Amino acid sequence: MTTTPENLRDQVVSAFGAAPDPRVRELFTKLAQHLHDFVIETNLTVDEWLAAVEFLTAVGKMSDDKRQEFVLLSDVFGISALVDFLNGPQGEDATENALLGPFYVSDAPLLDNGDSIVKQYEGEPLRLEGRVTGQGGAPLIGAQVEVWQIAANGAYDGQDPDMVENNMRGRFLTDEDGRYWLMTNRPFGYSVPTDGPVGRLLDLLQRDPMRAAHIHLRVSAEGYQPLVTQLYDADCRYLDTDVVFGVRESLVTKLDQVEDGTLRARFDVRLVRAT
Ligand code: BEZ
Ligand code: FE
Repeated sequence: MTTTPENLRDQVVSAFGAAPDPRVRELFTKLAQHLHDFVIETNLTVDEWLAAVEFLTAVGKMSDDKRQEFVLLSDVFGISALVDFLNGPQGEDATENALLGPFYVSDAPLLDNGDSIVKQYEGEPLRLEGRVTGQGGAPLIGAQVEVWQIAANGAYDGQDPDMVENNMRGRFLTDEDGRYWLMTNRPFGYSVPTDGPVGRLLDLLQRDPMRAAHIHLRVSAEGYQPLVTQLYDADCRYLDTDVVFGVRESLVTKLDQVEDGTLRARFDVRLVRAT
């Protein structure tokens, strides 16, 4: 059968349908269907198609082992958030997950509870504390709590060659009560990188590039599913417009003053058993 505008989509779908792996077959036939529908529904012009090719080429050129413009593209389309929703922890009272983001490193220094992750660039001091529990609310002793955050100068340590290594990151282990506590800075909203093609796209769409103020956490314990999440400052003005759609109601935390005037964030974490 020769190809016509009417049968093209089905021809592509059936050509992809010969893939022996059922999941590969499912992913690529669906992708072909949706892409063809998009082109048909929008009546895509040659110039628009070319612009898309140029845009994706620029995204690729901007991506390497230090910067992932493709992940940022996925983030601003809400695809990263959607994949997180579909694959998040399923369990009663389980703490919700949130984007990992591009600035996680797995070998941050192991610190003692009470230590500060601020090695450079002081901000407004914040005591972060909480309890890690598992099934039925039992405390998880020796759970690992990894914390990372933007520094007060507006950069993560990987973004600023002059920053002290591991500034604003650390690993903590929970005590016999499942508790962890540390000092950090109050988080603030910041812009995702806008000097690349995704920044140009945000500009074209007139989208605010700001992320809501957050602290990243990754919490893991033996026998439990590791959790990647973020704590959000309840007083941040970007909560409803977070550029990567990362804010979840259950993760929004009111920061309060403790006796000596220090700001405190309490963030408890409930993990789900590994299956
Ligand atoms: C972050 O929270 O660090 C982040 C997440 C997505 C894109 C850029 C930064
Ligand atoms: Fe972040």
